[in-house]
Amino acid sequence: MNNEVNAMKKTVRDIAWAGKTAVMRCDFNVPLADGVITDDTRIKAALPTIEYLIGEGASIVIMSHLGRPKGKPVKEMSLEPVAKRLSEYIGKDVIFCPSDAVVDEEVKKAAGSLEAGSVMLIENVRYRAEETDNDPGFAKELSELGDVFVQEAFGTAHRAHASTTGIADYIPAVSGFLIDKELTFLGNAVDNPERPFAAIMGGAKVKDKIQVITNLLNKVDILVIGGGMTFTFLKAMGYSIGTSLLDEEGLDKAVEIMKLADEKGVKLMLSTDVVAADSFSNDAAFDVYPIDSIPDDRMGLDIGPDTIANFTKVLSEAKTIVWNGPMGVFEMSNFENGTRAIAECLAESDATTVIGGGDSAAAVAKFGLSDRMSHISTGGGASLEFLEGKVLPGIACIEDK
Ligand code: 3PG
Repeated sequence: MNNEVNAMKKTVRDIAWAGKTAVMRCDFNVPLADGVITDDTRIKAALPTIEYLIGEGASIVIMSHLGRPKGKPVKEMSLEPVAKRLSEYIGKDVIFCPSDAVVDEEVKKAAGSLEAGSVMLIENVRYRAEETDNDPGFAKELSELGDVFVQEAFGTAHRAHASTTGIADYIPAVSGFLIDKELTFLGNAVDNPERPFAAIMGGAKVKDKIQVITNLLNKVDILVIGGGMTFTFLKAMGYSIGTSLLDEEGLDKAVEIMKLADEKGVKLMLSTDVVAADSFSNDAAFDVYPIDSIPDDRMGLDIGPDTIANFTKVLSEAKTIVWNGPMGVFEMSNFENGTRAIAECLAESDATTVIGGGDSAAAVAKFGLSDRMSHISTGGGASLEFLEGKVLPGIACIEDK
C-alpha cells in the first residue's frame, strides 16, 4: 500500500523551476564530535536533488533540524558545520543564515534576493518550539521563504512538524529524489518483493519490534530473529537464558509471533546456539553454548556459529532481504561475528538487500560493506514506521499526481 501511495506523489520533476525558489526540508541531523561531522551520509544523500534544482534554474532555501535543542538556540547544535560541508560538495558557497529566531527579517530578505542557482541554509528549525508543535504560524513563516516545498527529509518524515508537514498547507509540496528512492526500495520490498522474501529482525526488545514483525509476517516467506530479542523467544520456549536480556513484557508477544508464523506458513529462524559471556564487556570471558545449556551466570551477547550457518544458508536462497537490527553487540569485537556474517552474506547475495537505518546501517558501515547493499535507508525511526505499515505524515503531505 505504501508504495502505491508513493507512485501517486509529485516529485521535483513535476515543477517548472526557472525563477522559482525551492524551500527544501533535508534531514541533516548528522553526528558531530567537537563540532566536526563524523558521518555525512545524509548530506551526500541530498546532493542529487540539490544539483537537479540548481540545473533547472531554481534557487534553494534548505531547512533541517540537528539534535533536540528543545525550542531554544543551542550553539553546539548549529547547522554551520553542515553549511561548510555542503559548500564543499556542491562546489559553491552555501549562504548560511545563523538567526536564533530561524526566520527573521534578514533571513526573509536573503531568501527573497537569491539568484538562480544559489543555495541558502537557515538555522536549526528546532531552535523554535513551534517546529515540533507543528505550529501553523511557524509553518507559514517557513513557506514564505520560497514558492514550492521540496520534501527530502526521509529520516524525519515520521514526524508531523512545521517544516516536515505543516508547511505543505501553504505552498505546493513535492518530493525530492531521496524520498522517491527510499519509498521505491522500501515500498517494493514490502509490497512487490521478488520471492523468497526474508526479513531479518534484531535488536533488544520484542515490544519495540512487535508492530514491524506483525506487519511483515503478512508479507515474508522467511523471518530471521537475532539480537537481544533472541533470549525473550528462548525463554518463551522454556529455555534457561542465564543472565541474558529478558523483555518480560515481550514474552507473550514472542509466543504470539511464533504462533502467527506457524499459521501463515512463514519459516521462522531462531538461534540454535549463542555466544555468552560472564559480563557485558569486550574483556569478559565467553564461550559458545547450545540454547539448551546456557549457564546461569552467563549472558548471551551474539548468535553462535551453528546459528550463523543456518541463517546464512536460508538467506542465500532469498531474492529480497530486509534487515533491521544487529544480531549481537557488534560494537564489541568479540561479539560482532553474527552481525558481520549476516552483513557479508547480504553483500555476497544477488538478492535486493534493503537495510533499515540506525544500528544495522552503522554495522554495515563498520564492516566496510555499505556499497554492496542495494539500499541503505537514511531513516532509522522512519524506515521502521514505514515497515510497520504506517503512513508517514511527511510523505502524506506531498501532493498527489
Ligand atoms: C533521526 O536521526 O532519526 C531523525 O533525524 C529524527 O530525529 P528525531 O528522533 O530527533 O526526531
